[in-house]
Amino acid sequence: MEQMKHMAVALDGPSAAGKSTLARAAAQRFGFLYVDTGAIYRSVGLAAHRAGIDPKDPAAVTELLPTLQIDMAYDADGVQRMLLAGEDVSEAIRRPEISRYASDVSAHPEVRAFLMEMQRDLARRRSVVMDGRDIGTVVLPDAELKVFLTASAAARARRRWLELREKGVETDLEEVQRDIEYRDRQDSRRAAAPLRPAEDAVFLDTSELSLSESVEALCTLIREAMEA
Ligand code: DC
Repeated sequence: MEQMKHMAVALDGPSAAGKSTLARAAAQRFGFLYVDTGAIYRSVGLAAHRAGIDPKDPAAVTELLPTLQIDMAYDADGVQRMLLAGEDVSEAIRRPEISRYASDVSAHPEVRAFLMEMQRDLARRRSVVMDGRDIGTVVLPDAELKVFLTASAAARARRRWLELREKGVETDLEEVQRDIEYRDRQDSRRAAAPLRPAEDAVFLDTSELSLSESVEALCTLIREAMEA
């Protein structure tokens, strides 16, 4: 493990760019906490799905918020678990239909405001690598390092498809790409905290990089920021 200094690393980018894999690996290398903010939005999406609510209906979603009890826990390996009213929903939030629900509910400013303090509080307590869509622009505008991770839609779809297949989920590559493009459009065009790079973000395009090359590239950026 490398030396510690209080640091916030904001890692933003589109769906399936490999943010969580890279963020987790880098956090482990430096002894930082890895925070997957998408999982928090997914928990709200799952709650809306279970409640039979239209995720695009701002009034219905806003009404749901005060009834939610969302908690995060870390297991012995530092893996983030999401709890909804005490139930471990870490697997349930990964289902493909919940991805769209998460994207839909995340467009409402009320949802974003509701989850803001939870995210900031984590970064105050520990050095973090936090991944999401608006971490560098809105949640942690003072982060010591902001990275905007990109890869072509085709490269992202292929990786996500292989990942699903490994988990035994048989899907169609084109459908995975369509889903990614749907979320790219929606996450970038929404009025509330759209996906966009912070002005001072460093771009990291992993289309042509292997996983280990991408991890090394991110770790080099973190090391440079720690020494700055
Ligand atoms: O990172 P992910 O694919 O698990 O995120 C699921 C959805 O949550 C994504 O489509 C957009 C939304 N999201 C967001 O709006 N802001 C974040 N910081 C993280 C995720």
